[in-house]
Amino acid sequence: MHAVTYDAYADDNSRLKFGEVPDPRVGPGQVLVEVRAAGVNPVDWKVMSGGLDGMMEAVFPVIPGWDVAGVVRAVGPDTPEFAPGDEVMAYARKDVVQAGTFAQLVAVSAADAARKPAALDWAQAGGLPLAGMTAQRSLDRLDVGPGDTLLVHGASGGVGSMAVQIGRDRGARVIGTASERNHDFIRELGGEPVSYGDGVVDRVRALAPDGVTAVADFVGGQLDTTLAVLAPGGRHTSVADNTVEQHGGHWIWVRPDGAKLAELAALTERGALKVTVAGTYPLDEVGAAFDASREGHTRGKLVIVP
Ligand SMILES: NC(=O)c1ccc[n+]([C@@H]2O[C@H](COP(=O)([O-])OP(=O)(O)OC[C@H]3O[C@@H](n4cnc5c(N)ncnc54)[C@H](OP(=O)(O)O)[C@@H]3O)[C@@H](O)[C@H]2O)c1
Repeated sequence: MHAVTYDAYADDNSRLKFGEVPDPRVGPGQVLVEVRAAGVNPVDWKVMSGGLDGMMEAVFPVIPGWDVAGVVRAVGPDTPEFAPGDEVMAYARKDVVQAGTFAQLVAVSAADAARKPAALDWAQAGGLPLAGMTAQRSLDRLDVGPGDTLLVHGASGGVGSMAVQIGRDRGARVIGTASERNHDFIRELGGEPVSYGDGVVDRVRALAPDGVTAVADFVGGQLDTTLAVLAPGGRHTSVADNTVEQHGGHWIWVRPDGAKLAELAALTERGALKVTVAGTYPLDEVGAAFDASREGHTRGKLVIVP
């Protein structure tokens, strides 16, 4: 099959290669998915740079990519959950970094997969799992619900744009930080935009004079702002800053989970969650997608479409 690989850690795209690799095997409990779309996440190039080496073993050559949407081509022994022809999606991170989704085929655990909702096209379905489940897990751990005022740091990105919508669906008021050019986008998602940077505490306080009851950080380095706008007893999380744990917050690490992904699929079916695709790239342009992601100003999701 065609796939993108790298054979050593690198801070740039110099080790990325597009070529032929053996088709994956499909074992018990797995489904072989023909990839129609695969979301790009900042973690893909962070893993390539070796940034997660202390946490996860990598076996080279690595096929990057942890998101997938596609068609089941085969199922492993005793895997009745899915059948060939099923349209599925998954956050397909494995315990070892090796056999990712930026390829024509990928073997995915049936437990990590959910059926693709008809409400999403392929690119949207490929962009949903990792970012959507990160937003969902953050809001689950914050126990966000009616009566909450939630501040989302990084509301226009892949994760933040989903968190704004999920927070609104759970009945919370949502304030989201973003660049000025994305303020209308935040409003379309149901949030109240504020610009980040100098004066952000005052701008949030102007909207929520008593403070916010919950903060979800999808940027990192926001702890001072978070603590300055949080009402007494407020809860906070970060996906990018583990020091929040020293201040009563939760450091979030998203896990593959087909049942949780199916909950997000149901949100898309009833129109409560939309996936905004900022751009699509063919398999042999993963490097260009990584460059765009590294700039750190994606509106919604970047997606590889083999
Ligand atoms: N721990 C986990 O499980 C987990 C899971 C997923 C993601 N993450 C991490 O979470 C972060 C976000 O991921 P993502 O996929 O959402 O990235 P992304 O799609 O690249 O989002 C980037 C967004 O960050 C915004 N931004 C940049 N600087 C900002 C600042 N100082 N304040 C507020 N917003 C700012 C940008 O907004 P503007 O364009 O409007 O400026 C842009 O929309 C990454 O670091 C990623 O590695 C962690």
